Amino acid sequence: EADIASKLPLKGKKLLLTAGPTYEAIDPVRFIGNHSSGKMGFALAENAANLGAEVFLVTGPTSQKLQHSSVNIIPVSSAEEMYKAAHDHFENMDIAILSAAVADYKPKNVASQKIKKKDASLEIALEPTKDILASLGAIKKDQFLVGFALETENELENAKSKLTRKNLDGIVLNSLNDKGAGFATNTNKVTFIDSNQKVTPFELKSKDEVAKDILNEIIQRIHA
Ligand code: CTP
Ligand code: CA
Repeated sequence: EADIASKLPLKGKKLLLTAGPTYEAIDPVRFIGNHSSGKMGFALAENAANLGAEVFLVTGPTSQKLQHSSVNIIPVSSAEEMYKAAHDHFENMDIAILSAAVADYKPKNVASQKIKKKDASLEIALEPTKDILASLGAIKKDQFLVGFALETENELENAKSKLTRKNLDGIVLNSLNDKGAGFATNTNKVTFIDSNQKVTPFELKSKDEVAKDILNEIIQRIHA
C-alpha cells in the first residue's frame, strides 16, 4: 500500500510500450498506413516515466516528441519490425501496454522498383501481419499485459472477447463513436476492463489525463 501512495509507484518497473501506426511497403516509395498520431502512446510513455518507470517505447512513424529524455525510443516502421522489437524486450519487462495501431494486412509482395502507372486498374494482394499483442499473451509469464481495442460496434463485447482471446490482464476500449475520441484528437474516451471483466468507464478527457487513468488502473492491480 505504501508503494501506491508513494510519488513513484512505478519505480523499479520496466515498461514496454508500442505506439503510432505501422507502414507496410508497397514499393520503394509507397506504403499502406493509418491515421494513428501516436499521441496516446507518447502520453503513456511520458506519464509512466514521471511515475518512475523505465520505459521502452517501440514506435511507428510519428511526429510526436518526448519531454522525458530518459525514455528509450525504439523507432520502427512495419508491423514485422514492431513485432521483432517488442519480442526483443518483452522477457525483461514488468508491464507491457500495446497502444500501436498495427496494420492487420501487408502487401504479399513488395515491388523492388516503383510501380509504373498503367491504364488498367491495379490490385495489390494482401496477407495478414502477425498479431504482436496475441503473440506476447501466448508467451507471457509474470508480465502485466494490456492491449487496446478500437471498436465501432458491439464495443464492450468485442473488447472483452479480445481480452480473453489474447490472454491479457487488461484492455483499454477506445470508442470511435464518441465525439472527440480517437486518432488525431487531443482527447479520448476510454473504458478499462480487467481480467475479471470489471468494467471502469472514464469521461472524455485529454490524452494526458487518459494516460494517467490507465496507468493508475495498472498500478492498483500490480500492487494488489
Ligand atoms: N495489435 C497488435 N498486432 C497486430 C494487430 C493488433 O499488437 N498485428 C494490438 C493493438 O496494438 C491493440 C490490440 O492488438 O493493442 C487490438 O487491436 P485492434 O485493431 O483493436 O484489434 P484486432 O485484434 O486487430 O482486431 P480487429 O482489427 O479485427 O478489431
Ligand atoms: Ca486491427
